[in-house]
Amino acid sequence: MMNFHVMTLFPDMVRNTLSESITGRAIEKQLIGLNLINIRDFAQNKTRHVDDYIYGGGSGMLMQVEPVFLSFISLLNQIYSDRESLPTSKEEVTEAVIPEVKERRKGIRVLYMSPKGRTFDQEYAAELSKEENVVFLCGHYEGIDERALSLIEPEEVSLGDFVLTGGEIASIAMIDAVSRLVPGVLGNEMSYVDESFSGGLLEYPQYTRPAEYLGLKVPDILLSGDHAKVEKWRRAESEAVTVERRPDLAEKAGLTKD
Ligand code: ADE
Repeated sequence: MMNFHVMTLFPDMVRNTLSESITGRAIEKQLIGLNLINIRDFAQNKTRHVDDYIYGGGSGMLMQVEPVFLSFISLLNQIYSDRESLPTSKEEVTEAVIPEVKERRKGIRVLYMSPKGRTFDQEYAAELSKEENVVFLCGHYEGIDERALSLIEPEEVSLGDFVLTGGEIASIAMIDAVSRLVPGVLGNEMSYVDESFSGGLLEYPQYTRPAEYLGLKVPDILLSGDHAKVEKWRRAESEAVTVERRPDLAEKAGLTKD
């Protein structure tokens, strides 16, 4: 089973969204696992705050290194339940644990949601769908203390050139995109082969009943029953829409305007 682990201050946000629809069914059927780690559970103060002012000044707050690191160690203990547990309390976690944390971290993919990261795309999703454990570290406020990143060494990944209020929505989107590539998650195994991006092209237009609505007709070819002609039409439509809307993808696929 493919396991997604999300380290977040807002576990309900992630759980509530992914428990709906296709991902919800995949979780129920145990095709994918969703494990939520509430970073706030590792807060080291009475008010349970996990953020503080930024050294050197500047607006906003930053997530502190300690609760992030302790929650990461705790997660490693869950993933490596066959190995001796590492300490997770403030008092017991010393510099001496760092080498073992780094060693265990090597066996899993750890992603930090950040606009500074590598842009997420279908290829990235396909790569992740082959993993057994993928960790999503979600920052909030202005981000996370850099030392947490140097201890955990996550790969930074971005949803695109815009700024979200936190990593949760980005992680939800990525988990959704990866889940549907996990065998069995989509009822029809073929349904992800044909669509946008998997052949490097955008998807052709599709129609369902009725054959005519308010004078708008479904293209005759699609009603012809001629499979070869339908395939040819779809390929031509895919090429046309890709050249028109995404010249960058068209070029990669070796298409020209002609
Ligand atoms: N967190 C804030 N903005 C983000 C983005 N564009 N992608 C991923 N995580 C983010």
